[in-house]
Amino acid sequence: MSSAETNAAARIRVRGLAKRYGAFEVFRDVAFDVGQREVVTIVGASGCGKTTLLRCLDGLLPADGGEIWIDAQRLAAPIAGVAMVFQHFGLFPWKTVYDNVAYGLRMAGASREEIGRRVPHFIALVGLAGFEQAYPYQMSGGMQQRCGLARALAIDPAVLLMDEPFAAVDAQTREILQFELLRIWEGKPTSMIFVTHSIEEAVLMGDRVFVLKGRPSRVAETIAIDLPRPRTRATLRLPRFAELRERVWSTLMSEARQAEFQLSGG
Ligand SMILES: Nc1ncnc2c1ncn2[C@@H]1O[C@H](COP(=O)(O)OP(=O)(O)O)[C@@H](O)[C@H]1O
Ligand SMILES: [Mg+2]
Repeated sequence: MSSAETNAAARIRVRGLAKRYGAFEVFRDVAFDVGQREVVTIVGASGCGKTTLLRCLDGLLPADGGEIWIDAQRLAAPIAGVAMVFQHFGLFPWKTVYDNVAYGLRMAGASREEIGRRVPHFIALVGLAGFEQAYPYQMSGGMQQRCGLARALAIDPAVLLMDEPFAAVDAQTREILQFELLRIWEGKPTSMIFVTHSIEEAVLMGDRVFVLKGRPSRVAETIAIDLPRPRTRATLRLPRFAELRERVWSTLMSEARQAEFQLSGG
């Protein structure tokens, strides 16, 4: 996809975004577009503001400057059509899988009939059929995140925000979930911003990788991932995959060295 096409089909437009916590400036001058069927992955050192950026995009956290547009709507508060998947799953512990997945639909005022139709569909899509009445504490981390994904997908989001969604599950489960997410996304491509600290995951999932850097941070580098879709396990074996992984790695590494040798409080 050329950058001109990306712009024409932009679903998310961010301009001059700034955020601080008190005197601490997290990021400044963040600007980018994300296409309607584009996956942007974001990598950056721990603490550089990735979660903060997603919370701004979700409308949960007011920015201190700049603008966020979702299609023709300027974001000022949470809006329908933007869904978030959290690192620590963010499920209601007192609700079953069914009720967790139904939650967003209920909040959006969906009819009983619509809920009854959509919820089982999305539970099945993420492979949780048969676990409708299970509670989060009864499930593995992988199953809980499947539930988090179903809850996000159930509202038919125009924008999917993922905050290190597979960081809290074991390596094998993570790999399974990555390919499941790719399969689900291929079935209905949508605008997605996927934060990860795994370079490999960033290259595997993304059409572009953004590298957040600096203090305050900003999008310092954008790396186009010209790997064919659908992405599968075979993608991991392409020479081009290794090249791109090295590129993202070297871009991040200079920053990581500096961060490692920074005195705390500095
Ligand atoms: N509510 C808050 N109040 C004050 N500082 C915060 C708050 N949330 C995050 N921070 C700080 O802002 C920076 C960015 O945090 P965060 O967005 O969570 O980074 P990341 O997700 O990239 O690890 C960190 O230095 C963090 O300590
Ligand atoms: Mg974070």
